[in-house]
Amino acid sequence: MIVFLNGQFLPKEEARISPDDRAFLFADGAYEVVRAYRGHLFCAAEHWNRFRDSLRALRIPYPAGVDFSGIANELLKRNQLVDAEATVYLQVSRGAAPRRHAFPAGEVAPTVYGFAAPFTNPAEKWAQGVKVLTLPDQRWARCDIKSVSLLPNVLANQQAQEAGAHEALLIRDGFATEGSLSNFGAIFAGVLHTAPRNNYILPGISRQVALSLCSALGIPVREQPVAEADLKNAAEAMLFGTTNEIMPVVQINDQPVGDGRPGPLTRQLQQAFRESVEEGRRRG
Ligand code: PDD
Repeated sequence: MIVFLNGQFLPKEEARISPDDRAFLFADGAYEVVRAYRGHLFCAAEHWNRFRDSLRALRIPYPAGVDFSGIANELLKRNQLVDAEATVYLQVSRGAAPRRHAFPAGEVAPTVYGFAAPFTNPAEKWAQGVKVLTLPDQRWARCDIKSVSLLPNVLANQQAQEAGAHEALLIRDGFATEGSLSNFGAIFAGVLHTAPRNNYILPGISRQVALSLCSALGIPVREQPVAEADLKNAAEAMLFGTTNEIMPVVQINDQPVGDGRPGPLTRQLQQAFRESVEEGRRRG
């Protein structure tokens, strides 16, 4: 496997990162995950814009001379993933410096790391839908930053998987914010409800694609969070994410959603999402 580290493409075994790296010591960094559909980076510009936003919010200088699409494409090429389904992961940390909480004194170059990995479409789950487990949202109040500090997400996802669920659905102050690695939406009387963009959710690229598709398909949207108490009344539910695309949720805890099968609007959105992927590939 060839990875990218600080300007170089090299075998993963040869990649060396300092133990003083602030991502290692403080989870002091941001990241992006982009889906590559047979060589096409889906919504790349949107991902890189969000990366800039995350870095700006963390006050990590934008790494000089870095072209994220260039790195991602080269990673796909060097790992023979141009004709495959893949994901590209890119991370920027504040760099390596002796441990102190405040930013390092003087100029420290950010650490830039990236890899590409083959991806298997969750075809069966897309077809049948998944279960989610509701859990308290124990994250900080800047969930809009795509920070590598993901412990609450990791713990919630682990607990969900141990309960046989695909993901955790996080609940803050009685309302569903998002999944452990996806945004969340539910259909009530033909209207898609999803938490608004604020500091309690990640502004998901897939969520944004889904909202545009709703507009094109004439599905009304209400950007308001679903109350935990209303989850049992949802006609349909779904997750939005780079790896999930549009994932039907057919069970929340022990309760089936609707008739326990993916609903018609979810199906429409899945189909439209696929078409927008193909459209993106055609445009190159
Ligand atoms: N996760 N919410 C959270 C907490 C996420 O971690 C993600 C993405 C999303 C969906 O965002 P997008 O549609 O831009 O992928 C929402 C990535 C895939 C991950 O951490 O692996």
